[in-house]
Amino acid sequence: MRNNYQKILITGGAGFIGSHVVRLFVNKYPDGMIYNLDLLTYAGNLENLRDLENKPNYRFIKGDITDQAFIHDLFTTEKFDAVVHLAAESHVDRSIKDPLAFINTNVLGTVNLLNAAKDLWQHNIGDHLFYHISTDEVYGSLDEGGFFLETTAYDPQSPYSASKASSDHFVRAYRNTYGLPVIVSNCSNNYGPNQFPEKLIPLFINNIKNNQPLPVYGKGENVRDWLYVIDHARAIDLIFNEGRIGETYNIGGFNEWKNLDLVKLLCRVMDEKLGRDPGSSEQLITYVTDRAGHDLRYAIDATKMMKELNWKPSLQFEEGLSKTVDWYLANTEWLEHVTSGSYQKYYQEQYGN
Ligand code: NAD
Ligand code: TYD
Repeated sequence: MRNNYQKILITGGAGFIGSHVVRLFVNKYPDGMIYNLDLLTYAGNLENLRDLENKPNYRFIKGDITDQAFIHDLFTTEKFDAVVHLAAESHVDRSIKDPLAFINTNVLGTVNLLNAAKDLWQHNIGDHLFYHISTDEVYGSLDEGGFFLETTAYDPQSPYSASKASSDHFVRAYRNTYGLPVIVSNCSNNYGPNQFPEKLIPLFINNIKNNQPLPVYGKGENVRDWLYVIDHARAIDLIFNEGRIGETYNIGGFNEWKNLDLVKLLCRVMDEKLGRDPGSSEQLITYVTDRAGHDLRYAIDATKMMKELNWKPSLQFEEGLSKTVDWYLANTEWLEHVTSGSYQKYYQEQYGN
């Protein structure tokens, strides 16, 4: 492992991507200690990490990244060597309803962690790493042509992406101002097991399963660039170990799908797996009012990752989607737990009439 780090703090490790990163690190680095700091908001779920509970090199800490005193004490006590920061509010629709929650967690929470790292590491700052996980949404929206490069100017368009862009700026400012060793990576849309069913793919899997309408925003013409979550976790591990300090890495699968085409593919996959008549799930597609300020297209140019770090996605989209559907169909208890209680209220507010 990079610099023989002993104590690695991963924030947001009970969430979707974080849980896959925590699992990869705990299994790959038996001699290191992996700390998972997570507030367990609606999106955090310890059921994602059941298999790690008894691992000697894993520790879960429940806590809030925005709590200054708590974070300061935690860093002072545990003396982390490196931080991989994923904790965030992550859903665009929620950011439209409550932007301040996103500023609080994504901006203030990140700066709070940066301060704690800077203070703890001040005497040997160069030996450490603050690795910040971000999104391609900071670059804004593309028309039909072109890709996001690491050098593309930031142009965030939603409260979510504006809060992530702001946090990225703070991370880089801490390198420039205080010499904090930082790396930032910006990834495209992830999909796979354990994603909370508010995002397109797991929401639609759950609705198809339950014969509920599939609410496609606008005409379904928006384009997203999809990457299997485990390929993102592999990229994070590579960057953590071999990424150059101060650099930005764009991560994506060169896998663009128009929403409607993706939804139709998902319907076909689900019909087959559920033994339904071909074409039956497509009947559930319902066009609903478009998302406010809906970004038209995201597309990542991941050439730097591929050339510099020799990374490439391991799965074709059809294979990844099939594995994802299998996971949701096999993990009915997980799905039932996360869709009970407050989920119903959210769903009603977001999609009810
Ligand atoms: P998620 O919403 O599934 O998980 C976020 C986690 O952060 C949850 O476990 C939650 O409990 C935790 N959290 C939230 N507020 C917290 C706080 N104040 N203190 C401590 N923990 C807190 O998100 P995700 O989809 O796994 O995304 C993880 C990171 O990756 C985010 O930073 C996101 O911006 C970024 N990202 C996500 C995608 C994607 O497609 N999902 C793509 C690119 C980048
Ligand atoms: P989402 O999974 O929320 O990710 P993001 O907005 O961060 O890209 O949405 C993916 C795409 O699917 C996006 O263009 C919005 C669209 N979408 C729908 O059409 N209906 C829905 O119910 C949801 C949640 C998303």
